[in-house]
Amino acid sequence: MTQTKLTENIHCVGVVDWNIRDFHGYATRRGTTYNAYLILDEKTALIDTVKHTFSNELLRNICEITDPGKIDYIIVNHVEMDHSSSLPVIIKYAKNATIIASQRGKDAIIEHYGADFCIETVKTGDELKLGKRTLRFVEAPMLHWPDSMFTYVVEDKILMPNDAFGQHLATSQRFDDEVDEHVLMEEAAIYYANILMPFAPLITRKIQEIVQMGIPIAIIAPSHGIIWRSDPSKIIKAYLDWSAGVSKNKVVIVFDTMWGSTDKMARAIAEGATSEGVDVKLLKLRASDPTEAMTEILDAKAVVVGSPTLNNGMFPTLGSFLTYATGLKPKGKLWGFFGSYGWGGGALKSMIETVRKAGFEVHEPSVEVKYVPEREDLKKCFELGQQIAVKIKA
Ligand code: FEO
Repeated sequence: MTQTKLTENIHCVGVVDWNIRDFHGYATRRGTTYNAYLILDEKTALIDTVKHTFSNELLRNICEITDPGKIDYIIVNHVEMDHSSSLPVIIKYAKNATIIASQRGKDAIIEHYGADFCIETVKTGDELKLGKRTLRFVEAPMLHWPDSMFTYVVEDKILMPNDAFGQHLATSQRFDDEVDEHVLMEEAAIYYANILMPFAPLITRKIQEIVQMGIPIAIIAPSHGIIWRSDPSKIIKAYLDWSAGVSKNKVVIVFDTMWGSTDKMARAIAEGATSEGVDVKLLKLRASDPTEAMTEILDAKAVVVGSPTLNNGMFPTLGSFLTYATGLKPKGKLWGFFGSYGWGGGALKSMIETVRKAGFEVHEPSVEVKYVPEREDLKKCFELGQQIAVKIKA
């Protein structure tokens, strides 16, 4: 990462991970960054570190600006290892640094790296004077771990919210006005759908809390991807919409197939939904990954899932997808189902049980076909697509 300033004496010292394509299961087709920030004042503060494989690069970036031995504070906004696992290396050089974290952050640091650190805890509203600048802390539990907190640089109006408002996007640019806006918003949506979606109510409340605090925000500097400086309200509004479950007349069909029967059914359902004028996306697992499917589901009103029966249950890719999807708790979607089988069914029952257990709304009837769909079966699939489309338009 080339050395970039956020403002005078606030430097980006993080790193770009160009080639990561799997971030604990999330398909990061455009790589990512681990952002860290260095603030020079009467006291020097490092905000977050980076993934341990890049510790030396972080150290080099700091050394280009100052002697790491002069770091007084390391602010740990979040202990997940993509942000904290360089701590053991950095602390060897920043020998006099005090680590600042939330109470749960302190506990997590000790649980990850042992108890040999000097750690002070902070809570919402606490401030740390660096000299001309002041850091104010806002606890943000579950955004994205219990320990998470935001750091706000009062005088510069910079919010450093760690994971929140991030994107897995590796670029040589650092700011929103330097990159393609569509790519940026697409990656922000992918990130929200695959990481933050389960915490939607908390996100809405946290944004409302910050608004009520009346803190002006000129820049949002997250821990992944691009920094929002041209119009930070754009990503805040997007988060409010996503968290509220704002969606459109769109049906996402996710399926897999063994010998083409569920593929034919999926296409007939797509035709039925399309005939009612709604937007349709058709995703075959093994051609599309669950990361992409969840991103499409983010602004859809209905999801239709299809599987062949294998060994009396659903096809393994559907098992994996539904585990992932139900865990992410997409809000307010209508779920429909279809499937095929040879001699004994099982996939449909198993899929419906899985989503019912997660509390999702299930459309009835489903369509199930033995071996290969005939004309009459495909008509039922077409009608299923129509029924779901009509329901979401109502
Ligand atoms: Fe980027 Fe929750 O770590």
